[in-house]
Amino acid sequence: MLGVPMRILLFTGKGGVGKTTVAAATALRAARAGLRTLVMSTDPAHSLADAFDRPLGDQAVEVERNLFGEQIDAQARLEEGWREIQEYVLSLLDWGGVDAVAAEELSVIPGLDEIFSLTSVKRAAESGAYDLLVVDCAPTAETLRLLSLPDALNWYIERIFPVERRLFKVVRPLLSRVTSMPIADDRIFAAIERLHRTLDGVRALLVDQGISTVRLVVNAERMVIAEARRTYTYLNLFGYRVDAVVCNRIIPEEVSDPYFDEWKRVQGEHLGTIAECFAPIPILTLPLYEREMIGLDLLDRLAGDLYAGRDPAGIFYDDEPVRVRKKGGGYVLSLRLPFASKPDLDVMRKGEDLYVRVGPYKRTLMLPSMLARLEVAGAVFEGDRLNVSFARVGGETKGGS
Ligand SMILES: Nc1ncnc2c1ncn2[C@@H]1O[C@H](COP(=O)(O)OP(=O)(O)O)[C@@H](O)[C@H]1O
Ligand SMILES: [Mg+2]
Repeated sequence: MLGVPMRILLFTGKGGVGKTTVAAATALRAARAGLRTLVMSTDPAHSLADAFDRPLGDQAVEVERNLFGEQIDAQARLEEGWREIQEYVLSLLDWGGVDAVAAEELSVIPGLDEIFSLTSVKRAAESGAYDLLVVDCAPTAETLRLLSLPDALNWYIERIFPVERRLFKVVRPLLSRVTSMPIADDRIFAAIERLHRTLDGVRALLVDQGISTVRLVVNAERMVIAEARRTYTYLNLFGYRVDAVVCNRIIPEEVSDPYFDEWKRVQGEHLGTIAECFAPIPILTLPLYEREMIGLDLLDRLAGDLYAGRDPAGIFYDDEPVRVRKKGGGYVLSLRLPFASKPDLDVMRKGEDLYVRVGPYKRTLMLPSMLARLEVAGAVFEGDRLNVSFARVGGETKGGS
C-alpha cells in the first residue's frame, strides 16, 4: 500500500495474559482490512502457530491473504550477530582459565537471543513488503531488558574492551610482546561496530513516533497489574510509546453464578486501579470467553470485540505522559496532567510509588529504581505538566521549582 506509512505494534505483558492471542487477532483484523501484515513472535515460548492453528516457522508463511506469520528462531539470529564477538570473549575466558562449559555460558549476555530476534523486525520493516508488523514479545522482564539493550551493551562492551580502539592499535604490538592474552583484532572491532549500528537502528525504529507503539496486555489481577505498571514506567523511561492497555479475561456481566461473585467484584476493583495507573491511555477490554480462542474464526471474533470498529493499526494515544530528565545532581519527573489545576494538588511518595491527586483525579506511578532511591524535593506546574523534582537524601540537589 504505497503512501501509507508503515506501522509496528508491539504486544507485551506477563506470561499467560493473552499476548499471543491478542497479537494474532490484531494482525488478522488488520490483514482483513487490507493491510499487508506480518505477525512475528520474539518470545522463545512460541505459540503463534497454536493461536492460528497453522504451522509456522522461522520464515514468513502466508496464513491467509495479506496475513503472514513468523516464529523467529532466536538462536539462529544470535549466531549471526554475536558469533565473532563470542569467539573472542571465549578465547579471553579460556586464557583466564575459565572452564569451557562455564565460558560458553558467560560469553552470552542473558536475553541476548531475544534482542537479536528484534533485528528480524527491523529487516522486515526495511523490506517494504508490509504495511503493518505485529510483534508478539517475550514476557515483560525479558522484553524490557531487550528494549534497553543498546545501553546495556555499551556498558558490557566498555568493560570487555576497556581500551579505546585507537589506543589499542598503538599498544597491541607492545601488549602481544609481554602477554599471551588474546587481543581483539580489527575484525572483532568491526563486528562490534556492526552490532552497535544494528541495535541502534532497531531501537530508533521502535521509538519512532508515528511508526511504533506498545500495547500492554493485562488481566484484572494484582500481580499482573503490578508487573505491567513497572513495564509501563520503564517503557516511558526509554522513550517507547504505549498507545493502549488491553485488559483481557473480564468475567462478563451475564455470568450470574454466585461462585464468580467475588471474582467479579475484585475484577471491578482492579479495573479501577488500571484506569488510575494508566490514564490517559485508552483501556480496551475483552471478556473471558466460554472457550480457548484458537483459530482464525475465534480470533476474528475477539478482534471485533477488542477494537469495536476502530482501526486496529491506528495510533490510539500519541504522547509521552511521563518523562524523566536529569537536572543537576537529581532528576525531574514530568507528568502530563491536562486537567490539573494547582490549588487542589496533592503529591505523595510511598516506597516505590508516587501518588498524585488533583481534585477528584488520582494518578499512581511506579517510580523507576533510579528515582525510588531519591527524595521528592518539590513539585511545580509548567503548562499542562507537573514536574516533580527528586534529589538525594539530604536535599543538596533541590531543583525544578
Ligand atoms: N479472553 C479469553 N478468553 C478465553 N481464553 C483466552 C482468552 N484470552 C486468551 N485465552 C486463551 O488463553 C491461553 C493463553 O493465551 P496466550 O495468548 O497464549 O497467552 P500469552 O501469549 O500471554 O502467554 C490460550 O489458550 C488462549 O486461547
Ligand atoms: Mg505467548
